[in-house]
Amino acid sequence: MKTVGLVGWRGMVGSVLMQRMQAEGDFALIEPVFFSTSNAGGAAPSFAKNETRLKDAMSIDALKQCDIIITAQGGDYTTEVFPQLRAAGWKGYWIDAASTLRMNDDAVIILDPVNRNVIDHALRDGTRNFIGGNCTVSLMLMALGGLFRENLIEWTTAMTYQAASGAGAQNMRELLAQMGALHGAVSAELAQPSSAILDIDRKVLETMTGAAMPTAHFGAALAGSLIPWIDKDLGNGMSKEEWKGGAETNKILGRIAGQPGSVPVDGLCVRIGAMRCHSQALTIKLTKDVPLDEIESILASANDWVRVVPNTREATIRDLSPATVTGTLGVPVGRLRKLSMGNAYLSAFTVGDQLLWGAAEPLRRMLRILLD
Ligand code: HSE
Repeated sequence: MKTVGLVGWRGMVGSVLMQRMQAEGDFALIEPVFFSTSNAGGAAPSFAKNETRLKDAMSIDALKQCDIIITAQGGDYTTEVFPQLRAAGWKGYWIDAASTLRMNDDAVIILDPVNRNVIDHALRDGTRNFIGGNCTVSLMLMALGGLFRENLIEWTTAMTYQAASGAGAQNMRELLAQMGALHGAVSAELAQPSSAILDIDRKVLETMTGAAMPTAHFGAALAGSLIPWIDKDLGNGMSKEEWKGGAETNKILGRIAGQPGSVPVDGLCVRIGAMRCHSQALTIKLTKDVPLDEIESILASANDWVRVVPNTREATIRDLSPATVTGTLGVPVGRLRKLSMGNAYLSAFTVGDQLLWGAAEPLRRMLRILLD
């Protein structure tokens, strides 16, 4: 049985990963060793097996004992520990949720329902670094995998509506605190059906822009507002999140952005007040005019999780929202129609849980591929 080191299993992505691994029976197939950066020697979680004490996540010697390491500890940990571990001669498989190593030549971005061929090829070539993709990119590819598979996408834009969870657990808390602050400012008026809505609105705005609004994590109001910038400023008008769209999509597909055979993917990334589901509005330039019913069957055939939502008001409101999708592995895609620009222009809207397919699920599936 392979010894699998688990690092960062207590954080938000790590906890979702642990839940999924328990639900799928992964622990029956491995000898898990739980690591900690702060509590080495403490008790491992209840689902531990033979090794019931936490090991030191900074100990290269302890990490070296593992055949496979899965980390959701974050980029700083990867930056510090991974080079030391490889320098110490460790030849195991490194499976990582952080972006640090994603674009390295000796790393593959893992999303096996879309790029199992790229993963298998890399394994045959001796690749040992398997990195989870950006959540927005992974969710877009889960939704549009069929069209990519059939080479039907000449280019696509991705205009995103990204949830607070993508920024971290503290940001989810802050979003709710902001909502509470806004509601608290007008709760008395709301209880009075006769109160004037413009008075309520003015009070909400005063609260939203006032010093008491909790904005330490987002740097601005998100509740009742939005933030059209995610991740670093690359200095060329693009956010790092927007850059990842093209760079990572193509790498996942085994191509290189900007090189022949690559697919341009670009857009604007926007933080909105959803909790943990990222949504995206896509404008797709098809390589040829394909009838809509064929497009729907190609999309639906791509993997076991994508689901085409009929483009009606009723089905859209019911099935294509963060409230419906949160906590599920389903990736609905809807609002499919040919745009008035011409028959090769397709619109689509997709929603996915960014902690599941966007983070934890590809990691545990890579583990299963290694165990096969
Ligand atoms: N960068 C993403 C976000 C999350 O901020 O929503 C992780 O891929």
